[in-house]
Amino acid sequence: MMANTVNRIFKQSLNRTFTKPITRCLSLSATNNKKVAILGASGGIGQPLSLLMKQNPGVSHLALYDIMNTPGVTADLSHIDSQAKVTGHTGDAEIAECLRGADVVIMPAGVPRKPGMTRDDLFNTNASIVASLAKSCAEHCPGAFLGIISNPVNSTVPIASEMYKRQGVYNPNKIFGVTTLDVVRANAFIAEAKGLNVSTVNVPVIGGHAGITIIPLISSCSPSVSFDAAALKAITERIQEAGTEVVKAKDGAGSATLSMAYAGARFASSLLDVLAGKDGVVECAFVRSDVTEASYFSTPLVLGPEGIEKNLGLGNLSDFEKELVKACVPELQKSIKKGEEFAANFN
Ligand code: NAD
Ligand code: LMR
Repeated sequence: MMANTVNRIFKQSLNRTFTKPITRCLSLSATNNKKVAILGASGGIGQPLSLLMKQNPGVSHLALYDIMNTPGVTADLSHIDSQAKVTGHTGDAEIAECLRGADVVIMPAGVPRKPGMTRDDLFNTNASIVASLAKSCAEHCPGAFLGIISNPVNSTVPIASEMYKRQGVYNPNKIFGVTTLDVVRANAFIAEAKGLNVSTVNVPVIGGHAGITIIPLISSCSPSVSFDAAALKAITERIQEAGTEVVKAKDGAGSATLSMAYAGARFASSLLDVLAGKDGVVECAFVRSDVTEASYFSTPLVLGPEGIEKNLGLGNLSDFEKELVKACVPELQKSIKKGEEFAANFN
């Protein structure tokens, strides 16, 4: 076989193997000059998330921050032949350099659950980690998009928001609790249950990110699907408890990391896409909201270069979903208040 024919077939097979499956997740943006900072980059989520962002053609600079192992992760990723420059930063003295000029900051810093714990059990450790990192973001890159993965998201997003308010730089349109994993799971479970091609399935998931606050809107699933009452309850509960399913399966070794990295990369890539001028990008995320009596709530959002362009609200809820929202709101209000009170006393 001629050398250039072999070369062409090799390139085609690389495209089939790598490029095609990840295009749904990774950015298709035409511009390639964005700085992305990952805070908690050496962790179970941080490493694969950084790997996915290193492959994103919209990223020119990937800045990795952690309190440990950053040089190793940085050296490793920097050998990949994609265009993003990778820099590593450790400790208080280096956070400013990591954040300065960032367009998008994604924060998976903090401890994960072990079996038997709720996400709220992480509050005591993670609240101060998020508060101090958010304070740094407010100081060094107040205009960047901030995506918070650290749990409990229902409290950490209010904490971060309060830290921005304190610095006088709060923009509620740019701070997001990353709930994309709930959407990814709902898509996967419903496609599996109904024998659908998963790449065609889209289920909005609203509310918050813990137990009964996670509300998949299966009545709004595209394509439309139907379940009898028992099956609907069962699949809804599986989506609500999917994080616990992984925590139990990992048996003390942490919580979801790979699926979260995939979901985090999808969300970050959507942010990069809108910064590059793409229209019509919709993602669900936990944001400041007046859609319900809870002051933060996840709903589908139309994103634009300045953040939330339009909150699409609850849509048409089934009676079953209306009951789920009713149960969710007081639970969310408690977690939001806990986060805000913590931030008020944080030094
Ligand atoms: P991990 O322990 O593997 O990694 C966390 C990383 O954060 C570690 O590398 C650690 O050194 C770093 N870190 C700790 N304090 C820091 C600080 N002050 N500054 C910078 N980095 C710091 O944990 P993980 O599995 O990657 O999970 C991280 C967080 O994400 C947990 O809170 C977990 O509950 C949460 N999570 C959220 C979702 C979601 O859907 N939003 C999904 C999965 C996990
Ligand atoms: C998840 O949904 O997987 C994360 O929130 C991690 C956890 O503790 O369940």
